[in-house]
Amino acid sequence: MVDVILGLQWGDEGKGKIVDYFASNYDVIARFQGGPNAGHTLYVDGKKIVLHQIPSGIFHEGKTNLIGNGVVLDPVTLKRECGNVEAMGIDYKKNLYISERAHLILPTHRAIDKASELSKGIEKIGSTLKGIGPAYMDKTGRNGLRVGNLLDKSFTTEYIKLRLKHQKLLDSFNFQEDISAWEEEFFDAIDFMRDFKIVNGEYFINDKISKGNRILAEGAQGSMLDVDFGTFPFVTSSNTISAGVCTGLGVAPQKIKEVFGVSKAYCTRVGSGPFPTELLDETGELIRKTGNEFGSTTGRPRRCGWIDGVALQFACMINGVTQIIMTKSDILDNLDTLKVCNGYKINGEEKSYVPFQMNKVQIEPLYKSFDGWKQDISSIGNYADLPVQMKNYIEYLNGYLKVPVKYISNGPGRDQIVVA
Ligand code: GDP
Ligand code: IMO
Ligand code: MG
Repeated sequence: MVDVILGLQWGDEGKGKIVDYFASNYDVIARFQGGPNAGHTLYVDGKKIVLHQIPSGIFHEGKTNLIGNGVVLDPVTLKRECGNVEAMGIDYKKNLYISERAHLILPTHRAIDKASELSKGIEKIGSTLKGIGPAYMDKTGRNGLRVGNLLDKSFTTEYIKLRLKHQKLLDSFNFQEDISAWEEEFFDAIDFMRDFKIVNGEYFINDKISKGNRILAEGAQGSMLDVDFGTFPFVTSSNTISAGVCTGLGVAPQKIKEVFGVSKAYCTRVGSGPFPTELLDETGELIRKTGNEFGSTTGRPRRCGWIDGVALQFACMINGVTQIIMTKSDILDNLDTLKVCNGYKINGEEKSYVPFQMNKVQIEPLYKSFDGWKQDISSIGNYADLPVQMKNYIEYLNGYLKVPVKYISNGPGRDQIVVA
């Protein structure tokens, strides 16, 4: 049996915290897509750590953590992260497994990502520059090197062949930077990875399932960044939605049970692209400041706005969300009024769907307003004790989305969560 935790917005919904919270109920925690563009923040014994490649179950004794075939893996980030985790007293070697089919992010992928972004004007994606797009391009273009290839004698030769191909592309962008230092750390990290538990991920996970183990699939990014269903072209390069679990781990759809959709009580986006409910005023600024909305991976300020019901409803549909987990509700503690977007006005007409090419149409968000609760909710542990204004807000979302908000996160700490 496989349950999924994934983001319903444009990423950074608090998936890391939520996976860490639920991890004790599972035997295996597995990443199924994305790469080091992800930044999942956890607080373990009051200490903050941001994970980019390692699943967020790593701090739980005895739990298996798997980096699935759908992930693109940067050996340099992995090595650095293993060091950080080890410094927190975790013997990652015991419980961390990597699928041999996961594609490697090469130094040239990072260079191409950078060169490609530099070549664009206002159409910049705002990529994290981690090489994600170029690595997935090599995968679907049937090039690329996979984790299993580390063990091949021809690994370096194959790398050199690809590097020559990539150099042509870099030349076409007139990219002049010397990447030899990146290559040096890459090969150093490749050596480090040779000791890892590299497994056939699909047999590994299906064997666990058939033995009755419980699997938690950890999504990265968010549904509105999905390469098919997100705000294309301002998206990432993988399927971030629940369907990505099947292709990214090698599990059949009927094995998936709960789909936990994580959404902030408001909305953020980092990088370029449409964001209908964005607040460019002092309320947006207040949310950014109170919520410390700065990217976990790049440190960039996150754009802030009201919760977008239209986009959330779409994300619930695409993912088959069974329960919603609302995070960062405490960030709204001081607001007089809150708003939920419950429609888009496009060319004078009210719509309740996400349009094709959101970036090419003028969307005026329609809102329903709610009174704020104006009190500190961060130490509340029971639903009954939450302010009535907050319950009104949540109940409206339940009705609008037709999927229940089952958990309300009211602080970054492991145990700051209220069950509805
Ligand atoms: P992820 O990428 O979805 O894992 O999210 P990030 O870690 O990038 O960003 C979420 C941020 O919000 C992190 O700094 C978390 O520690 C923090 N966070 C998560 N849940 C809550 C919450 O309920 N309240 C507050 N105040 N912070 C939270
Ligand atoms: P987590 O898992 C927020 C955004 C980037 C950019 C676009 C494409 O922490 O929620 P990419 O590097 O993937 O080519 O960038 O996607 N992006 C994220 N935004 N959270 C993330 O991950 C993101 N990963 C990528 O800002 O707009
Ligand atoms: Mg993040």
